[in-house]
Amino acid sequence: MNPIKLGVNIDHAATLRQARGVDYPDLAQIAALAEKAGAHGITIHLREDRRHIQDADVYRLRKTLTTRMNLEMANNPDVLRVALDVVPDEVCLVPERRQELTTEGGLDAAGQLATLRPTVRALAAQGTHVSLFVAPEPRQLEAAAELGAPYVELHTGAYANAAGDAAKREVEALHAAAARAAELGLKVNAGHGLTMSNVAPLLDIPNLDTLNIGHAIIAHALVVGIEQAVRDMLAAIAR
Ligand code: PXP
Repeated sequence: MNPIKLGVNIDHAATLRQARGVDYPDLAQIAALAEKAGAHGITIHLREDRRHIQDADVYRLRKTLTTRMNLEMANNPDVLRVALDVVPDEVCLVPERRQELTTEGGLDAAGQLATLRPTVRALAAQGTHVSLFVAPEPRQLEAAAELGAPYVELHTGAYANAAGDAAKREVEALHAAAARAAELGLKVNAGHGLTMSNVAPLLDIPNLDTLNIGHAIIAHALVVGIEQAVRDMLAAIAR
């Protein structure tokens, strides 16, 4: 089996910056450090409401990233304009609702074939690899294949939120979905809600290409980084 790649989602670093309206933390620096640590790609979600990642971040990161840019976006003309201008390596089409805390459900690709088709085509025409963020359901995978998207990203949120037998059933659904995706010729990524504690049962999913993980990495970065940050501030105020 090939090693699983890691896409590091840095949206939550932008959330911290936006909470104060300042210019730190510097996303380009964070992305560069993630790349230095071995990340295979950097994932950012340009939301319609621009809650965390801003247009300027997308343009700047496009210049500074040394790995792959995976831009998550809703099928929205305003965000699509940015994607067509920036030409990310990958675009993952996701559903969006204004009030949600994070991307809550999978994209209803099967129910939105007509509106998704031109977007997938336009992105594919510029060489961007398109992925659809879908629940592990056969009809959604079949819709992704029909749209000609090379990738699906399986939504692991239901698994992450489940426990016991329910979690086992979600793992089985993810395995079955990955197998069906392979039959349909789709490459398989997965993500949402994954942590160092819950990721293990997903590692033998067949043909798993990339896991996109954000919140748990940024949260862990605070834990492993706080000592150094306090030392550095103590040094700054020493007299
Ligand atoms: N993949 C997709 C499509 C997402 O929308 C998100 C959240 O932005 C992630 C992966 C990462 O989720 P988390 O931050 O829970 O690791």
